[in-house]
This record gives sequence, C-alpha cells and structure tokens, in this order.
Amino acid sequence: MTYAEITGWGKALPPIVLSNSDLERIVDTNDDWITSRTGMKERRISHVEVSELSTVAAAQALAAAGLEPGDVDLLITATCTPETIIPPTSAVVQSKLGLNRAGAFDLNANCSGFVYGMVVASDMIKSGSVKRVLLVGAEKLSYIVDYTDRTTCVLFGDAAGAAVLEATDEPVGVLASELGVDGDAAPFLCVPQFGTLGGPGPRDPEHASLYMEGQEVFRRAVTKMGEASVNVVGAAGWSLDDVDLLIPHQANLRIIDATARRLGIESSKVFVNVHAYGNTSAATVPVALTEALESGRVTPGAHLVFAAFGGGLTWAAAAVRWGNRVEPLATSDMRVPDTDKTVWDVLEPNFEFFGRGGDRE
Ligand code: ACO
Repeated sequence: MTYAEITGWGKALPPIVLSNSDLERIVDTNDDWITSRTGMKERRISHVEVSELSTVAAAQALAAAGLEPGDVDLLITATCTPETIIPPTSAVVQSKLGLNRAGAFDLNANCSGFVYGMVVASDMIKSGSVKRVLLVGAEKLSYIVDYTDRTTCVLFGDAAGAAVLEATDEPVGVLASELGVDGDAAPFLCVPQFGTLGGPGPRDPEHASLYMEGQEVFRRAVTKMGEASVNVVGAAGWSLDDVDLLIPHQANLRIIDATARRLGIESSKVFVNVHAYGNTSAATVPVALTEALESGRVTPGAHLVFAAFGGGLTWAAAAVRWGNRVEPLATSDMRVPDTDKTVWDVLEPNFEFFGRGGDRE
C-alpha cells in the first residue's frame, strides 16, 4: 500500500511587525484585552505579494526534502487572499520556482485550507496519480483587514508555510482525516466583495473587508476542532494517550486550549505560536509545523493531530504519523527580501482605502 510521507517543510515570515502597542495607536484597544482574549502579541505585515511569500516557503520545503524543482508532480497553494484570480497564485509560484513538470492549482478553504490540502495531496499520492506534492499555505490578510475595526484588525497577519509530501511504502503520513463545512453559518465570517458579488466596478470599502461575528465563530470553532480531532484519533486506531503533539490552527489561544482539553492532552503536547504571528489563515498550520520541527517538538514516529477551522465555515483535522527524519536535508538561500519601510508605510494604501485610525505619530 502507498502512503504519503511529509518529507519537507518551510516558512516565510515578512520582517515587518505590527505589535499590540502599534494597534493601540490606531484603534481603541489595549495589550491586556488582546492578550487575554486571543493570546496574541505581534503579527507580521507583508511588503511583498502572496506568490513571493509562497515561493520562499516552498523553496525551503523543497530543500528540506532534498528535492529539485523538476521533481515536483503537483503544486497546491491554499490561500483565500490570492494576488490574482486569473492566473491562480499557484501558477505564479510554479513559474518563480521553475517547477517544469508540475500541475498546479489553488485551494480555498479559508483557514482550513492547508489541512484540506494535506488530505487532498495525501489521497492523490495514495491513489497513485502523483508521487510528489508541494503544498503551500499563504496569506496576505492585511489586504482585507480594515484597520479601523478593532474587532478584527487585532487578529490577523501575513505569512506562508509549505510542506512536501512524497509516496512511500511506510505506514506514515495522514492516516485518518475529517473535512467539514457549514455553509449555513457562512455569513458569520465573510468578505462580501472579493469576487463577482457586487457586480463590475471598483471595490466598495464597506463590503471589501473581513466581517466577523466573533462569538458565533468562536463557539463553532471550539466544538468542531475538538470533535474532529477526537474523531481522527479514533479513526486512526489511536487512543487519546497516543497523541504526542497537537498542531492546531492558530486563531485564538482560548480555542487552542479548548481543543486540547477536548483531546484530554496537557499543554506540553500542544504547539502554540499565536503570540508571534496572530491568525494567518491557511499559513498558520505549515508555519507551526515548521517551528515545531525546528524546536525539536516533532520526534521520529510521532503521532500528530492537525486541526483547523475558518471561513465557510470550514473545518478539517488529520491524524498524521511522522516518519523517521526530523531534520531538513538542506536549506535554501531564498529569503523574504529586507525592506526599509515601516509598518505604517506598508499599511498606508490600506488606510487610504478603508480609512484611518488614530494618530500614529
Ligand atoms: N479591544 C478592546 N475591546 C474590544 C476589542 C478590541 N480589539 N474587540 C472587541 N472589543 C470589545 C467588544 O466591543 C465588546 O465590548 P462590549 O461588551 O462593550 O460590547 C467586548 O470587547 C467583548 O467582545 P466579544 O466579541 O464578546 O469578545 P470575545 O471574548 O468573543 O473575543 C474574539 C473576540 C477574539 C474575536 C473571539 O470571539 C474569537 O476569537 N473568535 C473566533 C475567531 C476565529 O476563530 N476566526 C476563524 C478563522 S478567520 C478566517 O477564516 C479568515
């Protein structure tokens, strides 16, 4: 039987930081509120496009797997902030990386996109249609965040992460998964105008930003991430005691803690970096996986649970048995370019479109 092992991993973090004290200067909020309600301290704001973040993360993942661009059969880019709809961001990344024999498509399941992508990539490998998949989760959420709205602007950031999945005979990789969606609840989390809705013409600021009814989304996220995590552990034939590490979507520390409680695992078995990057939608899980490996939290043969929840409202979970290798085979020289710009320089076009918050001097 064929399985799909995760053999490469990588991340791309823009250098520009937006801190809680920066946010205090533009909306009526404070570090205590943000920290106690979300666990967040900082997030990154990107001065480059999603394809560039994706390319850097993907190059790191390829190097970690010891692969050349020509080895890749399929590229999947999970994003809900593509830089263009035509072409898909994956086509831009294919060109930048020189993946000369790969197919490529974008996958949009909002914050659940990377875990959805893991399941799709894994099942395509198991079916024999492809052998090596490069999977990216990348977002530039600062494009759709209204920095005059304190209920959303403190939550989101920009980033990319990536993984390589390869065919193997060893019983590793995604052993069980659950994908779900509740479209009836979609209005609780939406960007009304990022497509044909609204008709031709320029975007209208009132409907072009991310709208969220936080408590409604919170309640459903806690229920579904917990349920789906327990379900995949059972479907993989594991007991809850077998779980070595939970790598959850990083939307809110309280949602992560509730998911861990539902699984009955202690905090030492949960990977958290929400304080550093906030919610980067489809990028949170691959960035967290990469940092879990970098910090020695993933051990050979580990039993991992991935869980995510987001717009749609979608959710996804996967039980993943790690292989033997926890070190990258190599690293790439590719980096997110440095910049002299300040966070305010980079956000200026956003402020011009959505409006300005308080005094930033
Ligand atoms: N600073 C200070 N006060 C604030 C802020 C802020 N930034 N934001 C809201 N408040 C106020 C509210 O106005 C409210 O005041 P009121 O009581 O006077 O009306 C009070 O704080 C409480 O607001 P709640 O919305 O009840 O706060 P809650 O504890 O629910 O936390 C949060 C809000 C953090 C948004 C939470 O609901 C949450 O994390 N929701 C889920 C987010 C999520 O998982 N999203 C999914 C993925 S996103 C995607 O797919 C792109």
